Amino acid sequence: MSRPEIRVQGLHKSFGDNHVLRGIDLEIDQGEVVCVIGPSGSGKSTLLRCVNLLEEPSEGQVFVGGTEITDPDVDIDAARRRIGMVFQQFNLFPHLTVTENLTLPQRRVLGRGRAEAARVAAENLARVGLAEKAAAYPASLSGGQQQRVAIARALAMGPDVMLFDEPTSALDPELVGDVLAVMRGLAEEGMTMMVVTHEMTFAREVADRVVFMDGGVVVEDGSPDQVIGAPRHERTRHFLSRLLDPAMAEVEEETSDQVGEPGA
Ligand SMILES: Nc1ncnc2c1ncn2[C@@H]1O[C@H](COP(=O)(O)OP(=O)(O)OP(=O)(O)O)[C@@H](O)[C@H]1O
Ligand SMILES: [Mg+2]
Repeated sequence: MSRPEIRVQGLHKSFGDNHVLRGIDLEIDQGEVVCVIGPSGSGKSTLLRCVNLLEEPSEGQVFVGGTEITDPDVDIDAARRRIGMVFQQFNLFPHLTVTENLTLPQRRVLGRGRAEAARVAAENLARVGLAEKAAAYPASLSGGQQQRVAIARALAMGPDVMLFDEPTSALDPELVGDVLAVMRGLAEEGMTMMVVTHEMTFAREVADRVVFMDGGVVVEDGSPDQVIGAPRHERTRHFLSRLLDPAMAEVEEETSDQVGEPGA
């Protein structure tokens, strides 16, 4: 029987008087892949960051593997170790080799010895198809390879769930496929994954569920075929039509550049 690996209940988050998350309820079962889509500013990153406790929720609860991680008495470091996170920017240490990027957090955070950390690093580099880059420095890798290293670094910590925040948005189009292939492999291995993405093909083919967010609430939550293929809500239809129509998307992008969208 499946059990929720991630459970979000009545989650609110405000930054000052900006009420960003307005009551999110969400369950993700063990082994499930959920893609989160929605317009810029709808709160997708904030939601992921609350699940990882990078942000403190203003209200509500988050459970991971049955433990309430929003409980003030919980061991936050232990809770965080169960959650791997991959960002749009890879955040590798430029002065460390690929292997060192993977061994450092294992040794610092998990207290693993040198040999074990190296073994786990090698294992996970192989898992993302980069065994041969172990001794390379990040600057000598393509963006797609750097992102795969970042995924391997998260996996080396042995997380129960993986959160991805637009992992392919910073990549040149020809590098996106390799990263998505690694993520698809993880999904097939049964990893529980929550993925913020604009890659609709990935969402359709890999996700068990798609969640559409707008204005800090979940507007639709259903199968990819339903949410992407036959959206029930006008807001979802509007978002998807902009996304799937490149001409419109370009206009929107220019407009948001002019108002200086953060994090673009
Ligand atoms: N640390 C912060 N301090 C203040 N405001 C924040 C902070 N993080 C996010 N916000 C605000 O919260 C709102 C939602 O931001 P969030 O990054 O979650 O949106 P998003 O859906 O991920 O958008 P995008 O698609 O552009 O990444 C925005 O208005 C943003 O300015
Ligand atoms: Mg975001």
